[in-house]
Amino acid sequence: MSETLYHYMRKAFSREAFGLSGDLAIFTPFSILSPPEETHGFILGRDDRGREVRVNPSKLPNMHGVIVGSTGSGKSTLARHILLQAQKMGIKEWVIDPHSEKSYTSIMDTRLELTVEKIYFMEHPGWSPEELASELSYYLEKIYAFPGYRSILREILAKCFEEKSLYPFERVKNEDPNLKRIYDDLRKLYSEDGFKIRELAEKNLHITFPTLVSRELHATASQILLLLLEGYMRSLGSRNRVDLIVVLEEAHLLKDYFLRLFKEIRKFGLSILAVTQLPREFDPRIFQLAGYVVALSGPESYIADIASLFSLGREEFDHIAFGTRGNALLFRSGDPRPRRIVLEIDPFVL
Ligand SMILES: Nc1ncnc2c1ncn2[C@@H]1O[C@H](COP(=O)(O)OP(=O)(O)O)[C@@H](O)[C@H]1O
Ligand SMILES: [Mg+2]
Repeated sequence: MSETLYHYMRKAFSREAFGLSGDLAIFTPFSILSPPEETHGFILGRDDRGREVRVNPSKLPNMHGVIVGSTGSGKSTLARHILLQAQKMGIKEWVIDPHSEKSYTSIMDTRLELTVEKIYFMEHPGWSPEELASELSYYLEKIYAFPGYRSILREILAKCFEEKSLYPFERVKNEDPNLKRIYDDLRKLYSEDGFKIRELAEKNLHITFPTLVSRELHATASQILLLLLEGYMRSLGSRNRVDLIVVLEEAHLLKDYFLRLFKEIRKFGLSILAVTQLPREFDPRIFQLAGYVVALSGPESYIADIASLFSLGREEFDHIAFGTRGNALLFRSGDPRPRRIVLEIDPFVL
């Protein structure tokens, strides 16, 4: 082995190389030498050399993932393929799904139809009343597009969480039609004898909504459930393995939440898999922070969006262009080169 190559290899496998940020990683020898293939985690398919390609959220700096692809490209099918494997590993799972796809129900134990069935969100382990009020009001202001409402909502919700009742909100709701709108939506989700987060986190849940639920109500319900779940998992302590995976369909509706969540480096065993057909709606930083991103096929405008988020080479571009179903690119955090893969979906979920 030549002297230069020897130094090159040493550098590639030295510890310092691991400390580099994603942006700099592209200049390390890792971009020349293929990293060893993952041998644990969810099997996605095979690469161009016929090797099995897996993704292991527990090993990645960030446990969260994103599936992007145009409508019909196979996003939900891939999500079900991953869920089926997670089940076999004993991982609990939720799907939050505004389309109420029957194909999810067939692999989950329990269907929870929100607004028909209710939740009790006054019990919120892992959050103080003020903290939860502050977080939730931040997202409600964005979901309803009522600029300037965050502070009033925070004050009202903090009282609700302290008193464990929606009554403080009910008292003020008629002072303002926008407040009334939010109150009415919360009322549709809430009941004193509704499900508590501790109960929900123990189940494999397909969370759905009746067809006439508004976009805002769906986003609010998803947001409340995710905040409660996040607090609950945090209250159980830090750990590196995935205990619960949440597939979130139409994830662009909660794009502000993802940016915050994906920045969180500590691990509480919660892995979110955001599914969307609108990659452009997400802040580009979400794709940089995600532990893994799977890009499925789509038309040229969609591929152009993907190419602007990740610098794609010609071969990568072509691999997911022309709507070839089953073709995908896998981007793993810390691995600067995307993998071109052909998915091998469990026939049970097709
Ligand atoms: N890898 C695949 N191989 C063969 N058929 C697939 C594959 N992925 C999805 N399909 C089929 O394509 C259709 C659309 O898939 P779906 O997952 O619902 O797409 P999306 O969620 O992106 O809209 C379904 O009928 C599904 O069975
Ligand atoms: Mg789908």
